[in-house]
Amino acid sequence: MGFSVHWSRLAALLCLLCMGGGVWCDCTVASVQIEGGDYKLTKKLEPGSLLIYNCSKGFYPYPALTRLCQPNGTWKPAPKRFQPQRCRIVECPDPNVLENGDVSPPQERYFVDNETSYECYSGYTLRGSSTRVCLPNGKWSGSTPICSHDTGDNCADPGIPPGASRTGNIFGIDDTVEYSCNNNLFLVGSRERVCQENGQWTGREPACYYKHTYDTSLEVSKEFGSTIKNTLTTIQPVNDTQEGRTIRIPKNGTLNMFIAVDISESIEEKDIQDAKNAVKQLISKISSFSVNPNYEIIFFSSVVVEVVNILDFFDGKQENILNKLDGFEKGDASGTNLNIVFETFLEQMGLIKRRVGEEAFKEHRHAIIVFTDGAYNMGGSPASTVKQIKNMVYMNPTSEEEKQPRGEYLDIYVFAIGAEIDDGELQPLTAGTGGKHYFRLEDIENLQETFDAIIDEEEVKGLCGLHVEYDTTERDAKQKMYPWMAFVVIQNEDPRKCIGSLVSREFILTAAHCLKFGDLPEHVRIEIDDGQGRVKKVKTFMRHPKYNVTAKVDKKVKEFYDYDVALIQLEKPVQISTSVRPICIPCTVETRNALQLVPDSTCKQQEQLLLKDHLERLTFLTRTENIVDEKDVHAKLGTNRAGCIKHALQAPGIDTDVITDVVTDNFLCTGGRTPFRDHIACTGDSGGAVFKNYEHRTIQVAVVSWGTKTLCRTGGVVESDDTSRDFHINLFRVVPFLKSILGNNDQDDYAPLTFLES
Ligand SMILES: *[C@@H]1O[C@H](CO)[C@@H](O)[C@H](O)[C@H]1NC(C)=O
Ligand SMILES: *[C@@H]1O[C@H](CO)[C@@H](O)[C@H](O)[C@H]1NC(C)=O
Ligand SMILES: *[C@@H]1O[C@H](CO)[C@@H](O)[C@H](O)[C@H]1NC(C)=O
Ligand SMILES: *[C@@H]1O[C@H](CO)[C@@H](O)[C@H](O)[C@H]1NC(C)=O
Ligand SMILES: *[C@@H]1O[C@H](CO)[C@@H](O)[C@H](O)[C@H]1NC(C)=O
Ligand SMILES: *[C@@H]1O[C@H](CO)[C@@H](O)[C@H](O)[C@H]1NC(C)=O
Repeated sequence: MGFSVHWSRLAALLCLLCMGGGVWCDCTVASVQIEGGDYKLTKKLEPGSLLIYNCSKGFYPYPALTRLCQPNGTWKPAPKRFQPQRCRIVECPDPNVLENGDVSPPQERYFVDNETSYECYSGYTLRGSSTRVCLPNGKWSGSTPICSHDTGDNCADPGIPPGASRTGNIFGIDDTVEYSCNNNLFLVGSRERVCQENGQWTGREPACYYKHTYDTSLEVSKEFGSTIKNTLTTIQPVNDTQEGRTIRIPKNGTLNMFIAVDISESIEEKDIQDAKNAVKQLISKISSFSVNPNYEIIFFSSVVVEVVNILDFFDGKQENILNKLDGFEKGDASGTNLNIVFETFLEQMGLIKRRVGEEAFKEHRHAIIVFTDGAYNMGGSPASTVKQIKNMVYMNPTSEEEKQPRGEYLDIYVFAIGAEIDDGELQPLTAGTGGKHYFRLEDIENLQETFDAIIDEEEVKGLCGLHVEYDTTERDAKQKMYPWMAFVVIQNEDPRKCIGSLVSREFILTAAHCLKFGDLPEHVRIEIDDGQGRVKKVKTFMRHPKYNVTAKVDKKVKEFYDYDVALIQLEKPVQISTSVRPICIPCTVETRNALQLVPDSTCKQQEQLLLKDHLERLTFLTRTENIVDEKDVHAKLGTNRAGCIKHALQAPGIDTDVITDVVTDNFLCTGGRTPFRDHIACTGDSGGAVFKNYEHRTIQVAVVSWGTKTLCRTGGVVESDDTSRDFHINLFRVVPFLKSILGNNDQDDYAPLTFLES
């Protein structure tokens, strides 16, 4: 109660002050005291202030959860003398709706900590929990008990959740069951479910909520996690089964993610920081998962503040999202206009559609996530705007059946936060197939951890080529952008530095010439920071057996770099995380999945996809004070190749006219200034991955080997001149070598990669 005494003293002072200004100020705290609890005011006793009651765990404020101070100085709802405000014990919905079984103990009402047990009549079997406890959030523990006997129906008895009634008792194909909630409960989830051919019910089990029922952060992370993962994985071919059916089909699409955070007066300053952190957590989780959606992020009250504009992603000029979020400060805004949020999103979607064209837009998926206290009081109901959004994505369906196939293209999630939630208005705004889309949170505080828990790092551990696509100010930002990057350092009388790439937990791929004859594993160290020490010891290394730098000395080629690849085995496997992860390499099953190719596709098809154009844009890294930077180059393939490789004859130490004696088919050629001005490799870039990003995954296609000129000894991003050329070993030409080691099944030393048969 300490809190309220404090406020009432302050209130008296404020009243004096504002009366002088001619402002109404009659909201007083005398009439709104709560027995057994506490309250706080968002804006003292000023008009627009929200009074929020708070009771201890297992209790909830009654009759009102909150009260708003209206401009004319009255509380809404008004306190009633005969119904004093108090903390009431939490009640759970009636479990005695069980059919074909007994609930004990039989009670009229069930309160927090009350236990119940369930038994089925003979001939019936129990599914679900046999005992349940009423939890402080107003829900029963465990899952709905169902007593059923085998009727030969197509679908299993869907049960009746506590507090609900169901119509429909036949569970054949296309049969429908309908739910409603009794008394003062309201329904969250699917009101209607249809038995499908595959034996599954559409939608999800509904639940009956009281005004005081909320979802715990564990529930949110589990349910939101599984639903959002659905969205995330439909745009990448993960082989996953859910509810017994495989729902993963390789898809080619873009995910547009729209996030709106309510910062109206009834949300406190600290909540905004919490919300910002939660959004940041969500974004970094999503990017670690494997997809990099386009983001629109807005904060709203009566007006919309756009923090990240989704159109920037289409212009290729999106900046650091996380910085932008950090930079946002709450302004002076009042009121809550939820409609303007959806209007903003609708408009942005329209602009995206114009930008990419009707056909491409069909392949776009949209996820809208709205955090709100739901007490909107301006702008009218968003229902019709949401309908327009649905029409746009569902492509103006004329019937329910028509929209079905496009249902997965739109998800609208609503996180209703705080006490003053208007569920009746908010819940219908959700959209999407599969899991839960409406969440009712007590407060925003734990949302960051909630999002942290939604995506389990374990699930994506193996995936190659995943990376964060944007730079951040974090210390390890570069490592997250290039989580496969490793430095190769040789320390003996002839010290050298090269770059390498992590291709599995145990192996670094680099150039053979980085490891000279006479070097021993103990001379080599790998730098990659997996949180277990930055410097890694080397167990052994293998150069390509055909690599022989002096092989063509008699043909007047002083140094011959064919087959310039090597694999370095670490003493201990690295710890995989967002900042340490392997790159994809050609002709593996993983790369096939990353490229979204069909299971019976070949190695050749991977090559055709990655090195298809006569000028293929590729990238490699160079050490800079910035840790590393990217170098952009164009591999000259097809008819462009001859003109590129001929410059090799001008390199020092080459005294022949036979180009095939210098540059074999195993090399990719980059450099020069036409038609694009390429960057050129510097001393120290050797061994690095020449890579290409495809559908947000990084695939290494070559290893930096040698160049015709030394334009830079100190490293850095340097442009090519007209005749300077670089040569890189094409990994598609050395697959047997990679496979012989990385794909070796006949050893217990490390987990092998799976290579394609052909
Ligand atoms: C009200 O909330 C605060 C923290 O938000 C808590 O410390 C306090 O114990 C609560 N009061 C009651 C009666 O539960
Ligand atoms: C105060 O304003 C509210 C809404 O604006 C209205 O419903 C209520 O009747 C008013 N009360 C008084 C005493 O004027
Ligand atoms: C159920 O909870 C209420 C309130 O705490 C308590 O009075 C009652 O004894 C409990 N009933 C049982 C069977 O435990
Ligand atoms: C997906 O998994 C199923 C069952 O494990 C398997 O039969 C199928 O071949 C897999 N599909 C792909 C594309 O890996
Ligand atoms: C994906 O879609 C883009 C255009 O939207 C198209 O150019 C590309 O070829 C598609 N890729 C696959 C693998 O279907
Ligand atoms: C490299 O090639 C030269 C010339 O053919 C040969 O003499 C030498 O033995 C080779 N070295 C290795 C290690 O195979």
